[in-house]
Amino acid sequence: MRKRIAALALASVMALSLIGCGGKSNSASSAGVSGDFTGTAKGMGGDVTVTLTLTDSKITGCTAEGVDETQGIGTLALDQLPGQIAETGSIAVDGVTGATITSDAIKEAAAAALTAAGLNPDDFKTAVENNGEKAEDSTVDADIVIVGAGGAGMTAAITAAEEGKSVVILESQSMVGGNSVRATGGMNAGKTVYQDENEFGEAAGVEKTLKTAAEKYADNETITALAKTVSEQWAEYQANPTGYFDSVELMELDTMVGGKGINDPELVETLCSNSADAIDWLDEHGITLHNVASFGGASVKRIHRPVDADGKTISVGSYMIPLLQENCEKAGVQILLNTTANEILTDANGAAVGVKATGASGETVTVNAKAVVLTTGGFGANLDMVTEYKPELKGFMTTNAAGAQGQGIEMATAIGAGTVDMDQIQIHPTVEANTAALITEGLRGDGAVLINAEGKRFIDEVGTRDVVSAAEIAQTGSYSWLVVDQAMVDASSVIQGYIKKGYTVTGETYEELGKAMGVDEAAFAETMNTWNGYVDAKNDPDFGRTSFANKLDTAPYYAIKVTAGVHHTMGGLTINTNTEVLKEDGSVIPGLFAAGEVTGGVHGANRLGGNAVADFTVFGRIAGKAASDYAA
Ligand code: FUM
Repeated sequence: MRKRIAALALASVMALSLIGCGGKSNSASSAGVSGDFTGTAKGMGGDVTVTLTLTDSKITGCTAEGVDETQGIGTLALDQLPGQIAETGSIAVDGVTGATITSDAIKEAAAAALTAAGLNPDDFKTAVENNGEKAEDSTVDADIVIVGAGGAGMTAAITAAEEGKSVVILESQSMVGGNSVRATGGMNAGKTVYQDENEFGEAAGVEKTLKTAAEKYADNETITALAKTVSEQWAEYQANPTGYFDSVELMELDTMVGGKGINDPELVETLCSNSADAIDWLDEHGITLHNVASFGGASVKRIHRPVDADGKTISVGSYMIPLLQENCEKAGVQILLNTTANEILTDANGAAVGVKATGASGETVTVNAKAVVLTTGGFGANLDMVTEYKPELKGFMTTNAAGAQGQGIEMATAIGAGTVDMDQIQIHPTVEANTAALITEGLRGDGAVLINAEGKRFIDEVGTRDVVSAAEIAQTGSYSWLVVDQAMVDASSVIQGYIKKGYTVTGETYEELGKAMGVDEAAFAETMNTWNGYVDAKNDPDFGRTSFANKLDTAPYYAIKVTAGVHHTMGGLTINTNTEVLKEDGSVIPGLFAAGEVTGGVHGANRLGGNAVADFTVFGRIAGKAASDYAA
């Protein structure tokens, strides 16, 4: 195991410390927080784990592990950065050139460790390159300033740069990627060439959605109209089945039903009708998502995933983000890290004309621009804000990156922007119970089942997240076990990563695995045998699951203990289909655009898995183009 240990000062104090992780802190006194705290982030090959030693709320030691980082590249960062973090007490250390992903992961994991200790990572970003001295205030002129270097920000930046505009991105964190780099599953896109490479076998999924639309949403005009169109398309397809069945309207219907009908239908139409084209655009930029699979709430196989050289599925975010960053670099986009935007500058007419920010050493950075694009992400890491809008989520873990603090919403509302659906906050049902790591819904789409403390299934595992989470919370202990078999492991680098990280228990037989899970072994074995029979019959009489994949009958078997955690904030700034930010009265704020999780209305009351990557790609492109047109 690769492990790099930096000097641990005050070892005698540490001898009394406990290891803290997964959002739990240990000793806190009036003198500050002391102890060891662990955080995890996605690196190049898998997770990078950082343990910070804190003494009176100061970093006095740092170790980093990343067993899957690239030898000679990522391992350099693992060698060098922990020592620098321990020495300087800052997580804003320079990354290792050529090992950006691992360097960023070390810094992000360190930020997560600070969050786990109950501290604010922003307080540990003092600039180290100038020995703590404040850099000079600076002013930059650009056609377009973008706030936030996640998926939406970088997509908008590439688009604008390709339109010939000069673009500056401000990023509050010491690395790019935001929440997008944590996205694991893939990207939903309706009616792509990659779908047509699959054999169609999900008839029951389409029929189930049409039934739900008729039974639950008969009074929703949009859903009813979409269901009528899809029924006609479905009848036509059955009469003459060519290619794979999907349509823009079916994707819209799934998104609206998943969002409980409160989504903005025009934004949904924009998302879905541009999704296939977005897959092509990504392809043109060297980002290929061609493995198509099932995901929660989708009537058909629609999520598009990347695979490695062996054909095994890999995490979409850690695949896409470095490639988007590379495209930004090629297009001449300037990215200022550790630079936190505080204020949108406006002219006498109220038009956005730039951004004021604070750099790493506290200096003021002013960017004067013709247009401003907000892509700051949501507020899922700001648990105070989460509980302000949804008090029942107090105490929940979060899967979000530290930067998801809601800054963009605050800055835009300060100049009159309206917001929508702020209380719509999604919890994800498969968050690893000890570390808060996201366990992708893709496993369920590929055939995994959820098992409760009694050794039984309790829900259609491929239902929407709100429904699956609610069912899980109602089980004994409010947790469940996600069960896969060796055949699934062999096909997925993602699951292999979970095993390496120690998230799984295992057994050669169902009984052995049941014992390792601590559930009734006979009841669990019976559940699994019954499930395999349902897969054969393609019929789940217990919970009506319509997506089956393969039987779970290749030993050994594995299980991960999972629970629900805060995952996505569906509410945010009100935008129109051109990504212009709107005031409360519906009028446009000139020069201000927004895309991605900072916006509201696209996902309604519940986002479908795979629609976040679709959202940031589709609306990121629109924002880049719209801002360029405005800045022309
Ligand atoms: O479960 C997941 O892989 C999450 C995907 C998403 O939120 O889109």
